[in-house]
Amino acid sequence: MNVRGTPMRTIWLEPDGAVGIIDQTRLPHEFVTARLGTLAESAHAISAMLVRGAPLIGATAAYGVALAMRAQASDEALDAACRSLLATRPTAVNLRWALEEMRALLQGLPPAERAAAAYRRAGEIAEEDVAINRAIGRHGLDLIAAAWQRAGKRRPVELLTHCNAGWLAAVDWGTALAPIYAAHDQGIPVHVWVDETRPRNQGASLTAWELGQHGVPHTVIVDNAGGHLMQHSRVDLCIVGTDRTTARGDVANKIGTYLKALAAHDNRVPFYVALPSPTIDWSIEDGVRDIPIEQRDAAEVIEIAGRLPEGGIARVRLMPDGSPAANYAFDVTPARLVTGLITERGVCAASRDGLLSLFPERRQLMAGE
Ligand code: MRU
Repeated sequence: MNVRGTPMRTIWLEPDGAVGIIDQTRLPHEFVTARLGTLAESAHAISAMLVRGAPLIGATAAYGVALAMRAQASDEALDAACRSLLATRPTAVNLRWALEEMRALLQGLPPAERAAAAYRRAGEIAEEDVAINRAIGRHGLDLIAAAWQRAGKRRPVELLTHCNAGWLAAVDWGTALAPIYAAHDQGIPVHVWVDETRPRNQGASLTAWELGQHGVPHTVIVDNAGGHLMQHSRVDLCIVGTDRTTARGDVANKIGTYLKALAAHDNRVPFYVALPSPTIDWSIEDGVRDIPIEQRDAAEVIEIAGRLPEGGIARVRLMPDGSPAANYAFDVTPARLVTGLITERGVCAASRDGLLSLFPERRQLMAGE
């Protein structure tokens, strides 16, 4: 998508084999890129959230394995690389998926061939993500077009999203925001309510930034405003992303998503989740019980960062000294609260049958497990 009018992706290969990324910890106040030259730098970029968002975490991990293989391509180095990358973030399942893809390919190759093969597969994973998200955009566009019809084409379609599931969370296009970009680009008027998404403020800092760069009308709201807006018919459609969706359609996403789904259910507002297929964890059913929820440093809750009037960036403390804080990064929305899943193959019910109708090849695999 565009940054100051120039098309960009979130991750790319430099001529010398290093990996380029946008340092997302610096947005929205500064646009800064960074170079990842080693496995350790890749793992740090994921855990410190220079890159974040389930699909981009997967692509970065794949390139991290390539960087490890160019330094040392032994079986031990491959094991150690996968182990250290897997430990960076526990909830987004694309990370595990990408590492399994890389390991399956590389362990069957002689060490001398591993680095080149790893770069090639990492590049393919990134390209596949772009194609998948473009398709999600096309399928989700139909839902927004239908909402526009229902509104008599007299006013913009009002959408609500949580966290950042835009192109910054993926390689390009994004998941939840892909249908919104597709609608905007087709001339359907849209307006997006952007949850600020405490504590890391991915909505206020990243979603607002990327929508603004692309010229999509939006308004940032505090995380607790969504219910009020839905009660007053100010939201036609919620679309969020997901970090892991189970085989029966339970959805893990950024903390606070569950409360939005409850409010949407109570107000009969359709609640859609956009996801690329590598985000489906076919090995589990019950998301509340079985999806590990990342707990991050309490400092992310205790402090907040922002730009001072004179331009410098500062962190300030919000809470009294001595008050403890807890930082649960994700929650799980049960499938019964989800109107539908928007995937690269189409839109389906958030259920085992719904998912299997779009991914029938999993039926045999699951029967064999
Ligand atoms: O902790 P983050 O920023 O990596 O959170 C992940 C997310 O961006 C969101 O949960 C998003 O809605 C799903 S990933 C497309």
